[in-house]
Amino acid sequence: MKENFPCDIRQLPTPSLLLEREVMRANIQRMAERMGALNCNLRPHVKTHKSLQVLADVEKGGNTAGITVSTLQEAEYFFEGGYSNILYGVGLTPNKVEAVANLISRGCSLTVVTDNIAAINLLGERARVLGIELPVLIELDVDGHRSGVPPMGEELIDVARAIQETSGLTLQGVMTHAGGSYDCDSIDDIRHCAQQERDLAVSAAQAIRAEGLSCQVVSIGSTPTALMSNNLDGVTEIRPGVYTFLDLFQVGLGVAQLSDIAISVLTTVIGHQEEKGWVIVDAGWMAMSRDRGTEKQRLDQGYGVVCDLEGEPLMDVIMGKANQEHGIIMVRNGAAPLKPCDFPVGTMLRILPNHACATSGQYEHYCVLEGSSCTNFWRRTRGW
Ligand SMILES: Cc1ncc(COP(=O)(O)O)c(C=O)c1O
Repeated sequence: MKENFPCDIRQLPTPSLLLEREVMRANIQRMAERMGALNCNLRPHVKTHKSLQVLADVEKGGNTAGITVSTLQEAEYFFEGGYSNILYGVGLTPNKVEAVANLISRGCSLTVVTDNIAAINLLGERARVLGIELPVLIELDVDGHRSGVPPMGEELIDVARAIQETSGLTLQGVMTHAGGSYDCDSIDDIRHCAQQERDLAVSAAQAIRAEGLSCQVVSIGSTPTALMSNNLDGVTEIRPGVYTFLDLFQVGLGVAQLSDIAISVLTTVIGHQEEKGWVIVDAGWMAMSRDRGTEKQRLDQGYGVVCDLEGEPLMDVIMGKANQEHGIIMVRNGAAPLKPCDFPVGTMLRILPNHACATSGQYEHYCVLEGSSCTNFWRRTRGW
């Protein structure tokens, strides 16, 4: 498509991924101010947006120091875009050490993560062969959510000592991600998760230091815990990512409102199944992603909440079902039929996503909205 910016949203092809820049900037501001008040640096996770232009707005919000990536492809993309202080937040495998060494040799200050002695031995071997010194954080499991070493006890100290004693590796500190906050039922629960995430990471760092080992970095964070935390004493950085865009899952958790969601999928009505009360659109799960995260929450939002072209949610209208390229728009629980006359063929709608990372991952670029116009396309990176 040949673009002439600014253009009317109606001129965009469908499905397209819309990004409301002012909404995003308000989200960025909210987090930056919280971290300022709690006296903690942000190391924002870029896996949600994977975009240099979005990151430029995040940086303008302030209180950032470095970035977190979820793939080495992101590390490469953001390093080439001028960011050199990078944490790769997924346990490093030996077959990736060469790519890491390449980035380090070009001046990237890249820190990696591990949680076991088998990996430490293999990473050390590769680092020595490649002649590099790898800065390493120990991943802690603070809530039984996924990977990580228990934050107290012998295993933690064994892993810390193994890193310290392995030539080619340098122990920098500890990190954790309170993914358990995504299972919370109330704001009180999220606050409890946030306190637990902070307390366990800080006490793990103290236990390592008490053994005479170095532990400068205490890195924690998820969007829900970052938004609800009241105390980050002893934490050196926090790494939320989804907060830039927010999504229906975060609304379901209670840490955001529908009006805080900065991205939506633009779609067009193809036709109707009048007797079923359905409206059919040209955005299916390929456009929304397969993420059905809200299914487990109190309010199941199907594949997304339907809004009019101005972004106003239509009461109880959701994408209830999705095929690859067909979305089925209906009233929640089929409570009332939708009428074709209210959604003529060609009507354009916007769908708010369940999970910002998953939906944006389906697209090559954002259509950036400022006011009611699309003012630019911002590329996003992808791959591993
Ligand atoms: C290691 C790590 N840090 C930070 C985050 C960001 O958390 P959120 O997605 O809640 O913003 C994630 C998300 O998966 C993560 O895996």
